[in-house]
Amino acid sequence: MSAPLSYAGKVVLVTGAGGGLGREYALAFGERGASVVVNDLGGDIKGGGKSSAAADKVVEEIKAKGGKAVANYDSVEDGEKLIQTALDTFGRIDILVNNAGILRDRSFARTSDLDWDLIHRVHLRGSFLVTRAAWNHMKNQKFGRIIMTSSAAGIYGNFGQANYSAAKLGLLGLANTLAIEGGKYNIHCNTIAPTAGSRLTQTVMPPDLLESLKAEYVAPLVLWLCHEECQENGGLFEVGAGWIGKLRWERTIGSIIRHKNQTMTPEEVRDKWDKICDFTNATKPATIQESLQTLVEVLSEVDTGGAIRASPTSALNSAASDISPAQAVGTVLPETTFNYTHMQCILYALGVGMSTKEPDHLKFLYEGHEDFSCLPTFAVIAAQASMMEGGLSTVPGLSFDPTRLLHGEQYLELYKPLPTSGTLTSKASIADILDKGSGAVILLDVHTYSKQELVCYSQFSVFIVGSGGFGGKRASDKAVPTVAAPNRAPDVVVVDETGRDQAALYRLSGDWNPLHIDPSFAAMGGFKSPILHGLCSFGFAARHVLKQYADNDVSRFKSIKVRFVKPVFPGQSLQTEMWKEGNRIHLLSKVKESGAVVLSGAYIDLHAAPDASVSTAPAQTGGLQSDLVFAEIGRRIKDLGAELVKKVNAIFGWEITKGGKTAAQWTIDLKTGSGALHEGPYTGKADVTFTVSDEDFMEVVTGKLNPQKAFFAGKLKVKGNIMMSQKLEIILKDYAKL
Ligand code: NAI
Repeated sequence: MSAPLSYAGKVVLVTGAGGGLGREYALAFGERGASVVVNDLGGDIKGGGKSSAAADKVVEEIKAKGGKAVANYDSVEDGEKLIQTALDTFGRIDILVNNAGILRDRSFARTSDLDWDLIHRVHLRGSFLVTRAAWNHMKNQKFGRIIMTSSAAGIYGNFGQANYSAAKLGLLGLANTLAIEGGKYNIHCNTIAPTAGSRLTQTVMPPDLLESLKAEYVAPLVLWLCHEECQENGGLFEVGAGWIGKLRWERTIGSIIRHKNQTMTPEEVRDKWDKICDFTNATKPATIQESLQTLVEVLSEVDTGGAIRASPTSALNSAASDISPAQAVGTVLPETTFNYTHMQCILYALGVGMSTKEPDHLKFLYEGHEDFSCLPTFAVIAAQASMMEGGLSTVPGLSFDPTRLLHGEQYLELYKPLPTSGTLTSKASIADILDKGSGAVILLDVHTYSKQELVCYSQFSVFIVGSGGFGGKRASDKAVPTVAAPNRAPDVVVVDETGRDQAALYRLSGDWNPLHIDPSFAAMGGFKSPILHGLCSFGFAARHVLKQYADNDVSRFKSIKVRFVKPVFPGQSLQTEMWKEGNRIHLLSKVKESGAVVLSGAYIDLHAAPDASVSTAPAQTGGLQSDLVFAEIGRRIKDLGAELVKKVNAIFGWEITKGGKTAAQWTIDLKTGSGALHEGPYTGKADVTFTVSDEDFMEVVTGKLNPQKAFFAGKLKVKGNIMMSQKLEIILKDYAKL
């Protein structure tokens, strides 16, 4: 169990806290360390009368338990005064629970102006006024948690509650916008629709039920939503009887009934009614942008006269006949070859934001660095060639408009660190195709090889907008799933700026889509300016984790999975939030300036850190640490000797000293046949001979001591062809690292 939630140091205002639900919240906050402003007008259920007794009683209850509380007797219609009490007494306001409420139930025909106005004044206008009074304080302190209290009567409607339903759903609309405006200031606004026995419900519920639907079953949700750890924002929850559920909107795929140069008619609405109302494969738009996006798609669909669609009458499901999983799944794409040198590795590293400003980035930016490495995520550059070269369009049963292709998710798993130069071949195949209603998801599996050896496996998940509705399945066991981050504050947060030219730089690694450089092309896609590549943000996040948790050791990198959520504009800052759970690092990337989530459901799996005892163990009695390394070199020569002979073509003599005396001698022959390791003195034909102490040898092998430095410091003596010592790296770095 994780730590209990504390509200120490937080100032909470609960409106209408003199009884019912509000009292329960106030007591719960008070018990957990918050300073509580208990507001209640102390009126009757219909909004008449006034008394200080209700609030005073709750304040006493909190104090009796050792808590801190103050009463306020103003109506929520005096919003400023309530907040002023918080400021005067406790100096700040952190959490606001808008809860005060009254009822004036009438059948609609009998609803008077007063019935309507009073309900709106207390619920909707009251919540507005108190929240507005708190807003700037929360904004300035970059923290705020706000609850709006809606009702099932608003969500679903209820006989005799027209006034109340309207005000209650009005609160949800208010919360939806506050969630958007407050997000970047860490002000979160959520809405609850509670059900509990109280004086408000005693007239509508049977006594037994009233008794069992306790207010204390609602308070835990309110407390969690108001905790600083809780990242929920803009949510709507039903809560009661000890159960909590979340609600969201669902929308049918719908139907386009307008045609180019034709009048739109009610008859066609009638004829398409079933389709318009058919919730099969319904989508769940969550933002106004998503909602508008559909309209933009419809406009272009109608404008082209449906030319790009098989069936022009329904853009959003018209592509049905274009996607045929039966034909496409299993298709193997033409093999692609990717040649690269250290140049591409460095260009990629710059593309994903590495800089010489950070000294530890040098190993990715300088080919002469003793530990020059290629970033693991560079592997996607080689793998993506299968798609870049138009591969997908050659697949039978896959016909779609490439401008509707979005990169949805990415998985990458490395089986060995990427070479810093060489040739990689990639074999891609269609693993599966899913029907998400609003679009099709193509899962493309790519296996990438260096010669015969499998280097990595990638899965590209591409979303084709508007190509859904072909009757395919919604999920696949072939898909590598995303995993939600743990429900706690991140362990580490790293913020990194992207440059104004980040996309211009990244694209040189091989993604030439004009969307990332050409403003007019970006505008066609609905963006205000060219956007950063999703895989560039992916590269940023991966290197943040590699640095934070693996000391930039590329051999520790195992795999990465991300879902691409929102675009980033070059120049914005990327914020990577990380959670460590064993060897898995969960991550969430956001645009720092807007708080928009960029990568979600993401994680990186690392290999466990090598057992430190290997490199730091003292020499075994009688033995030398270097013996282990030579034994390993011997094994590698057995496996890869022929290749090494080709690369190195030299014989190395070794003299290992201990306490100033020769303790062992070795000959590494990488010139004759397929190579060999001999123990004992060299026979005189070595190209170069090294003399080094057992300890310093280990320092060099484990990368702590650079061989050049060791040489200049007199720790490593070299006889013979000194240039050959450069080849030493090939053996030590690639073949002796334990
Ligand atoms: P309640 O009547 O026990 O509590 C409401 C409190 O608000 C009362 O103590 C009242 O004095 C106070 N209040 C009324 N007008 C005020 C004003 N102008 N300024 C300050 N305080 C004022 O009722 P309950 O059930 O605890 O309701 C709390 C909230 O939950 C209300 O907003 C209600 O509409 C909502 N709700 C409750 C449901 C339930 O099943 N109890 C169902 C759905 C919503």
